[in-house]
Amino acid sequence: MELRDELEVRGGNLHFSRVDTVEMGEKHGTPLYLLSHDLIKDRCQDLRRSFLDRYENVRAVYAGKAFSSLAMCKIVEKEGIGLDVVSGGELYTAIKAGFPMDKIIFHGNNKSYNELVEAVENSVGRIVVDNFHELEMLDEITTRLERKADIFYRITPGVKSDTHSYISTGQKDSKFGIPILGGMVYEAVERVSKMDGINFRGFHFHVGSQLMDNTSHLGAIKQSVKIIKRIKDEYRIEVSELNIGGGFGISYSGDKKTHDLSHFLEGIMETIEDEFSKASLIRPQIIIEPGRWLIGDAGITLYKVGSIKEIPGIRTYLAVDGGMTDNLRPALYQAEYEAVIANKAGEKRENSVRVVGKCCESGDVLINEISLQSSEPGDYLAVFNTGAYGYSMANNYNRNTKPPVVLLSGGQDSVIVERETYEDVLSKDRIPEFLR
Ligand code: LLP
Repeated sequence: MELRDELEVRGGNLHFSRVDTVEMGEKHGTPLYLLSHDLIKDRCQDLRRSFLDRYENVRAVYAGKAFSSLAMCKIVEKEGIGLDVVSGGELYTAIKAGFPMDKIIFHGNNKSYNELVEAVENSVGRIVVDNFHELEMLDEITTRLERKADIFYRITPGVKSDTHSYISTGQKDSKFGIPILGGMVYEAVERVSKMDGINFRGFHFHVGSQLMDNTSHLGAIKQSVKIIKRIKDEYRIEVSELNIGGGFGISYSGDKKTHDLSHFLEGIMETIEDEFSKASLIRPQIIIEPGRWLIGDAGITLYKVGSIKEIPGIRTYLAVDGGMTDNLRPALYQAEYEAVIANKAGEKRENSVRVVGKCCESGDVLINEISLQSSEPGDYLAVFNTGAYGYSMANNYNRNTKPPVVLLSGGQDSVIVERETYEDVLSKDRIPEFLR
């Protein structure tokens, strides 16, 4: 397999983003997330070329759920893009990183009262209201605090997506957003028009994740334009912004390149211009929220190989020192990954193995079947494309500690999230008096 530009083999070792991964394993230990700042910057450049500099009145925010940390907030801020947060924790991270609050979009299908207070008190740019329960809380909060909130309504556009059902969000039967069936969207618009503390700015949809084309986006855009038209004609309300979410997929293979953003956005922007002009509407500001596309390829995970068990006539299990605790995606979505033995990256692949983790769970399989270089305990395994939803979905199952995240920038490595210790894991445990 030919490796992509950011992956190369030198002296037999896999180099990622110009850094020797084996050296990184020795220095920082394993499991280890390596994140390439250079690659994130490349993606941001493409984002500018394919979208921000190409069209007027557009905006981009990075979906922090893909990977959120203080350093990532700094990177995003320096790149001049906004940030989508989906919880009080992600908002708190942004606050602590000094991220400009007006560039934040606050999402979530069931924000708590306190999260809404935090959003209002910190004057986040936009709050995406998902349902009437939130609308009422927000009305009460803005009135009580005498503050204003700018909102989008999240709508469920009723379109199917060609992706795993767990990451498909735009279909009619979804926990996210206000259904476009019945009159709920119009009721929402009417209700907000009577709320002094809330400015309704427009609509948002997010149709799904890891989409390889723009079909669902196009369907959702058509639905949105119909709604925006009716709101203008019947309620005399102008929609000034339309947030079309993220979902732009990446290539999970170590040799195939991920599409440029224009692969998705050219058709999307054409349809937007067409549909708004056919409806005699002024095209609102368009906002996109890429998460995975911006950071997915920029990460790899490095493991150490432990037990290699050959079951005669059945298969070989190659176990590594991480698993579903640092990458939940294979267990949750049967996601497929590619990998290489990092310290033997130049050698031929000859053994077909199943790569498994160390969790007490048969489903803790990282790669169902892969042909790898002949390996032995102590080798390093590098799994590609783990930058998005790897660390952010990491957990402490079996009281495993979360790996550190090391940022590679211009050939230098910096720890941006430290390795968790046993003490960290125990730090919230308490023994009640009667058990002492
Ligand atoms: N905006 C909204 C409102 C979203 O809900 C999401 C993702 C995004 C943007 C970014 O989507 P992206 O560009 O990254 O596809 N854990 C799953 C992905 C869940 C995505 C949830 N929402 C996975 O590992 O595949």
